[in-house]
Amino acid sequence: MRIVVLAGGISTERDVSLSSGSMIYRAMKSRGHQAVLLDVYLGYEGDCDGIFERETDWAAKVSAIGEQTPDLEAVKALRKQGGKGFFGPNVLRICESSDCVFLALHGANGEDGKIQACLELLGIPYTGTDFVSSAMAMDKGITKDIFRAYGIPTPEGTRLRRGETESTRIPFPCVVKASCGGSSVGVSIARNEREYEAAKEEGFRYGGEVIIERYIKGREFSVGVIGGKALPVIEMVPETEFYDYRAKYQAGSAREICPAEISEEQTLAMQEIAEQVFRALRLQSYARMDFMMSAQGEIFCLEANTLPGMTATSLLPQEAAAVGIGFEELCQRILDHAMRQTL
Ligand SMILES: Nc1ncnc2c1ncn2[C@@H]1O[C@H](COP(=O)(O)OP(=O)(O)O)[C@@H](O)[C@H]1O
Ligand SMILES: [Mg+2]
Repeated sequence: MRIVVLAGGISTERDVSLSSGSMIYRAMKSRGHQAVLLDVYLGYEGDCDGIFERETDWAAKVSAIGEQTPDLEAVKALRKQGGKGFFGPNVLRICESSDCVFLALHGANGEDGKIQACLELLGIPYTGTDFVSSAMAMDKGITKDIFRAYGIPTPEGTRLRRGETESTRIPFPCVVKASCGGSSVGVSIARNEREYEAAKEEGFRYGGEVIIERYIKGREFSVGVIGGKALPVIEMVPETEFYDYRAKYQAGSAREICPAEISEEQTLAMQEIAEQVFRALRLQSYARMDFMMSAQGEIFCLEANTLPGMTATSLLPQEAAAVGIGFEELCQRILDHAMRQTL
């Protein structure tokens, strides 16, 4: 099949996406597909004819994810033809001549439903969940409201728009997060009033709304779901206070244990909640839910990731590997699901 792997973009998770994209590109190639790796923002300025028959020469050059989020202004300056839009030159044209777009984007504009809606209108099959569920899962405030409505355990919390004052206060320590962030960007822990004000300011750098929730002291886990069925639970043990951007992507800054060393009962409970979240947010194909477990063993779901990291060392691929699904097989299953949706 002719597959376009879309990566890059202009979100804080750009580098992570390039890394996921180059891995998916290689997996598609070794499965015998005619794949093209495209940077959705920078596009392709060469000759598009026969692009599916050529190797994407920059796929092998994607560098490791840096310690910090990328300089997006520098990326914008790279686009030779300028333009304000999200799609770089020839991107939609190449997508339209493919059989399916494999989304390796993360964060704003990639994971929030906009590109999904665009591809749907253009009649181009794409991987992952649809635009409605993407948008709901991307917004941590909406996700929390849905969790409450479905009785899914989540830390007590509230949303706050820029310029508004809190109607309820969450006691310290609390966590402040940008509503539409990812990769722990715009997430801070506040233990006092001064830190709280700074945390809100940091969160508002990424959008007009933040969520403030009770800090759960304990262990951190994640559970992937494919086609409605939960994978084994993985535990993340960061070296730092919380699982921040650095801990997520720098080798040696966090340990991951899969299957997680928790009781059978706790495993089943977390998997059951992950599947419940999948249904509540009307997710399709695959997703990964993040959890905290308090010292008392109480489980709280933090969020759902609809386009989770897809490098070989990312959490969902590690969980799949624990049940014998290798990376290539995982990518193929995601692709098969996207093609089934269009039958
Ligand atoms: N309520 C909380 N209590 C303790 N730690 C939290 C809480 N919420 C988030 N964190 C920490 O912040 C990280 C990022 O939060 P998360 O809600 O998963 O957002 P995202 O991964 O989209 O940035 C988590 O992996 C966890 O380490
Ligand atoms: Mg998370």
